[in-house]
This record gives sequence, C-alpha cells and structure tokens, in this order.
Amino acid sequence: MKIGILISGSGSNMIKLIESCQNDKNASINIVISNNPDAKGIDFAKSKNIKTKIINHKEFSQREDFDNQINNILIENKIDFLCNAGFMRIHGEKFVEKWFNKHLNIHPALLPSFKGLNTHERAIKSGVKFAGCTVHLVRSGVDEGPIIGQAVTSVDAHDDKDSLAEKVLKLEHKLYPKCLKLFTEKLVKVKNDKVIFSDKAIKILDDFKV
Ligand code: GAR
Repeated sequence: MKIGILISGSGSNMIKLIESCQNDKNASINIVISNNPDAKGIDFAKSKNIKTKIINHKEFSQREDFDNQINNILIENKIDFLCNAGFMRIHGEKFVEKWFNKHLNIHPALLPSFKGLNTHERAIKSGVKFAGCTVHLVRSGVDEGPIIGQAVTSVDAHDDKDSLAEKVLKLEHKLYPKCLKLFTEKLVKVKNDKVIFSDKAIKILDDFKV
C-alpha cells in the first residue's frame, strides 16, 4: 500500500507513521505534502528520502483548485491511502469522496467532543476529567467520520492546555501507527459507515483499553 501524508506543521505524528512503515513489507510512505512552506516535518521526510511537495493554499483562490492540485499529485504518485497528520485545512466534498474510506485523520480530542481548533483549551475550561485523541476516517464534516481508535488520559488538577497537549500528543504517537496498521494489513472493513474490526484488529487496539 502506497501511503501519502498531509501535514501543516511539526509533523511529529508523520514521523511516527514513517517510522512504523520503515520495515513494513505491506506499506510505504511515498509522499508527504504540506500546505505550509515552513512546515518542519518536510525536512524530516526529506532526510528519509521521501518525496515531498509544498502546495501552498494561499496560492489558490478556490478550495477546489487546491484540493485538485493535491489530488493530482497523489494520483501521479499512485497513492492508495492518505493520512492527515496535523493537516490544518478543510477538504472540499469532492476530495473527501475521492478518498472515501481510504483517508484517516487524527484529532487531539475524544470525538465527538471538542471538534475544531483550540481543543485542549476548551477541554480544560469545560472541566472534563478525561481527554485524549481520536483516529477516524475522513468525512466532509470537520473532525467527523467513523472512529477507528481512541486513547484516553486523565485531566489532572494541575493540567493546563500545554501540559494536556503534551500528554495527548504522546498518546497520538502510539495510536496513529496502530490505526494505520489496521488498514495496511486489511484488518478492518467499513460497511455503511460502520467499522467492522477483525479479532486481530481488536487485539492491536487492546493497548488503549481503559
Ligand atoms: C496534533 O495534535 C494533531 O492531532 C492536531 O495537530 C497536531 C499536529 O502535531 N491536528 C488537528 O488539530 C487537526 N484537527 P504534529 O504536526 O506534531 O503531528
């Protein structure tokens, strides 16, 4: 399976996905695309000899043209599966359709709570005692789509948005590679937006049980 990764920033999740595929005979990371020319993650991908592309959204007046540009590059590079890893742009419906059930996102909250931006700040303000991250299939609603995996941490009395972000990011780094593996090894099926987990898939996600 040839995988493309979309990033916008530091790319720490991207690094974990790259590392997890390094010795994998079923999967390889073939391209990393960033909308942000200054994304730090691009340097890491280059250092691993992975093809990189900058598609700066600011150079497009229409979202659809930006989406099409990304899609064309994915097709040219024969990409089969797509992972958003801190990609901070919203995809248009047509793009979502093209990658339907072949496209994962990670969000730093326990969806369906705290969709969108400033998740940790909102979680702290709300007083929730548990937080975490979610890997889900991409649908056209922001941070919506069938959930593949979640990982949970406590929100402690001394936590602020930065300490919570740090705890959640550590969980993201463990969860995302495992969720991707479920697809590269064909351990899950999706029927009518319901995810069907094989026994092996359930075992892989057992680490995140609470
Ligand atoms: C991660 O926490 C990721 O979940 C979040 O951005 C951060 C990117 O970090 N993504 C979103 O908020 C998307 N809705 P990274 O670039 O170091 O992987």
